[in-house]
Amino acid sequence: MVIKNGFVVTENDVTQADILIRGSQIAAIGVGLSDDETIDATGKYVLPGGIDVHTHMNLDVGIAVAQDDFYTGTVAAACGGTTAIVDHLGFGPAGCSLDHQIGRYHEYARGKAVIDYGFHGVIQHVDGDVLGMMETLIGQGVTSHKIYMTYSYKIDDAGIYAVLKRAKQLGVMVAVHPENDGVVNARRRELVEQGMTAPRYHAVSRPESCEAEAIFRASQISSAAGDAPLYIVHVSSHLGMQAVKLARRNGQKNIFAETCPQYLLLDDSYYERKDGLKYVLSPPLRRKVNNAQLWEDVIAGDIQTVATDHCPFDLKLKERLGKDDFTKCPNGMPGVELRYPLMFSEGVMKGRISANAFARLCATNPAKLFGLYPKKGVIKEGSDADIVIMNTGCGDTITHDRLHENVDYTPYEGFELSCKIDCVLSRGEVIVKNNSYIGQKARGQFLKRGLPALDAK
Ligand code: URP
Ligand code: ZN
Ligand code: ZN
Repeated sequence: MVIKNGFVVTENDVTQADILIRGSQIAAIGVGLSDDETIDATGKYVLPGGIDVHTHMNLDVGIAVAQDDFYTGTVAAACGGTTAIVDHLGFGPAGCSLDHQIGRYHEYARGKAVIDYGFHGVIQHVDGDVLGMMETLIGQGVTSHKIYMTYSYKIDDAGIYAVLKRAKQLGVMVAVHPENDGVVNARRRELVEQGMTAPRYHAVSRPESCEAEAIFRASQISSAAGDAPLYIVHVSSHLGMQAVKLARRNGQKNIFAETCPQYLLLDDSYYERKDGLKYVLSPPLRRKVNNAQLWEDVIAGDIQTVATDHCPFDLKLKERLGKDDFTKCPNGMPGVELRYPLMFSEGVMKGRISANAFARLCATNPAKLFGLYPKKGVIKEGSDADIVIMNTGCGDTITHDRLHENVDYTPYEGFELSCKIDCVLSRGEVIVKNNSYIGQKARGQFLKRGLPALDAK
């Protein structure tokens, strides 16, 4: 197959060229290439397939289970231009081994996933077995692990230090959910005692200071552990980014920051709406001023990746559980299907970032940081032919009924897009056309990831 005459985007260039695909890989990039089967991409952007390194398929949060599984969630991802995910696993039983949840998630994904997928390990306690297993799992393609500084299986500072020291030794990545657990829980109790249980108090209970304190603490522990590789997930506030930048100013080279479209495009005024429970997620939506400040950090290259934290629960369910008390509402929002279109439209089409920066944030940097580069995340000879053809000659309005996510709303209802995905290829196969998934079920392959390349900019 040849993709003819598009604007081919890599992390540094945009060139008008043809792409020759042989089997599952890119065989050549040049001009005048031909083959029997042709896709005409004249006037369109030809982008690397998106990589979303923060999804939660099947996530069990105790009071509910996230509603996308590895079939519905990856179909939605594919329709939105994402051709690989790295999923964050739910907690297993207390005291379980580090490979317990990985085994369980292989079962969840097998027979279902339609795009390629990997797993971050989840560290829910720290002992010699867990630290030992971090090495074993490298051989199984699991080269990053998540720790939580809040929630039921939070890791204390000594544990974080031990994990980061081990990560530095092994060259694996540690992803962290940073929020100050003690303060968040005290505030939740205070608010409930005072009858302040409306959705807006969800944001009040988890202030920016709690995120920033935890980012500061985690990044300084990483310094004490010898500048260990630390990836801060879902940074939602300017204050949080200041902690990231302080660590870098002090010479730390291995601190990486992720944000999500919701923190760039939505704000805490959404909690005032009558459907405010839709937006209950952690960290919460912030004061509007943070949107512009985070865009500045994206533009300056201080934020390395944009992921989604896709974790959908029906509004119906959120309302049933949380209508009288935000603390009873399952936390999380859908987003996996709209990251590519939203970031391209709000970022590139509005002139905030270049097409190259878009590719870096949404594909190349995630691939580098999570051991998938150059197989994934780039349009290059020898890479997998994971490609999105983006049409900028037409607009689109986001409506929930045209999405594939298994949930009864989208947080982005009514947002205008000034681009539209024409088609999506995964390993050389056209899997999405006209907003429909046309590939087989279960065609997705498990990605045995290599060690992170720590040069993502
Ligand atoms: O509210 C959220 N984000 N739920 C998913 C779990 C997490 O904290 O990332
Ligand atoms: Zn989180
Ligand atoms: Zn998450």
